[in-house]
Amino acid sequence: MKIFLIGFMGCGKSTLGRRLASSLNLTFIDLDTFLEEKYYRTIPQIFEEEGEDGFRKKERNVLEEVSSFDDVIIATGGGAPCFFDNMELMNNSGFCVFLDVETQTLVNRLIIARIERPLIKGKSPEELYEFIEMMMLKRRPFYQKARYILKGSEIFPEQVIELVRKV
Ligand code: S3P
Repeated sequence: MKIFLIGFMGCGKSTLGRRLASSLNLTFIDLDTFLEEKYYRTIPQIFEEEGEDGFRKKERNVLEEVSSFDDVIIATGGGAPCFFDNMELMNNSGFCVFLDVETQTLVNRLIIARIERPLIKGKSPEELYEFIEMMMLKRRPFYQKARYILKGSEIFPEQVIELVRKV
């Protein structure tokens, strides 16, 4: 059993992943945390020192590593599905659930958690809304390659458990 939770920053991948892992008795992995621990640096530091390209290469690297694990729930970073052939890698090694949360909910959540996210640092609520809409146009085609899509203003663990039962 290997589940990848994907979707935009603030869609609840980590919170949901943690709850799901404890309900299903699986190990939870937050890909961003895994990456920070492996490279002994925070994501903002990596962005600053190596730019987004450097970060994306490291992200791919850790994604390959965790894709070989079993009985895990992996919350990926919001951009992970949209680089290299990361969606194919995830779809071939487990199953992906896209948490398709509406923009206003993302704005409300991200406004209090902007600091540690280099791509949205310093944005006002209005700028953040625009940015999310613009990014989603580019990212949606990647996210939509997921085997399952859950849509709403909030997504609950029971909805994913229901999907898992069908696998
Ligand atoms: C990013 C999302 C972040 C993190 C990095 C880049 C993105 O993860 O990987 O700041 O490109 O959307 P979360 O989705 O967990 O915030």
